[in-house]
Amino acid sequence: MNGSIGVLPDIIWYDSVGSTNDEAQARIAADKLDRVWIAAARQTRGKGRLGRHWISEPGNLYASLTWPTNAPLKRLASLSLVAGLAVRDAVLQAGVSGQVQLKWPNDVLVDGRKVTGILIETTSGTGSHIAIIGCGLNLAHHPSDTRWPATNLAACNISIDPREMLGKLRAAMHARLRQWADGAGLSGIQDDWMNAALGRGGRLLVEGGKQGVFSGLSDDGALELTLDDGSLWTHHAGDVDWLEHRVST
Ligand code: BTN
Repeated sequence: MNGSIGVLPDIIWYDSVGSTNDEAQARIAADKLDRVWIAAARQTRGKGRLGRHWISEPGNLYASLTWPTNAPLKRLASLSLVAGLAVRDAVLQAGVSGQVQLKWPNDVLVDGRKVTGILIETTSGTGSHIAIIGCGLNLAHHPSDTRWPATNLAACNISIDPREMLGKLRAAMHARLRQWADGAGLSGIQDDWMNAALGRGGRLLVEGGKQGVFSGLSDDGALELTLDDGSLWTHHAGDVDWLEHRVST
């Protein structure tokens, strides 16, 4: 493992890359296994979750952290909760006054509208893993044609440039990764996440047709639903419909 947990990772800035996640992956493939933030003013092939495209014009923040970890494989997926909390912390530290919530798996919402997206990819070696935590933060603009309504920080009266925002995100992510402690601190992360969750205790419909009450998070970061017959359903991936929390675009 390279680098002490006490030291904030360096930042490498690019004017333009295909995807900061892909750039991070290329570093790992070249055996550069340090903790580092790869950031870019724009991306030409920005990647979203579920194979979607992430529009990446200048003005917003596009950044990916490479994070080698000794966490057991079964704990890696919980990094999604860690990253969501860290991005929420950074958004709050930027001075947003609206309600800042987390929407499973890891979207950050301001007054119900999405301001960020997170894409985590992992590479596994013998006994250790490297996570790439990719974060997109809408600082100056947002797409208008999204499935869930979006916004940006400027529209929330927060004017902040990508470099300053990355400074806040770097500190916040570091603090949350220390709390997570390679998975040993997961229960505190789960509690903090649920305290900021959209729709806790509300009804959800998940891809595949199951409907129930959002009752918790599993140890691998999956969403737990209590179905009407009292049984527990664990939803790992795919779209979710928050039946009581629809915001118009
Ligand atoms: C989502 O679909 O909500 C996740 C979007 C993640 C976008 C970020 S921008 C920085 C990093 N590089 C990418 O190509 N994607 C992530």
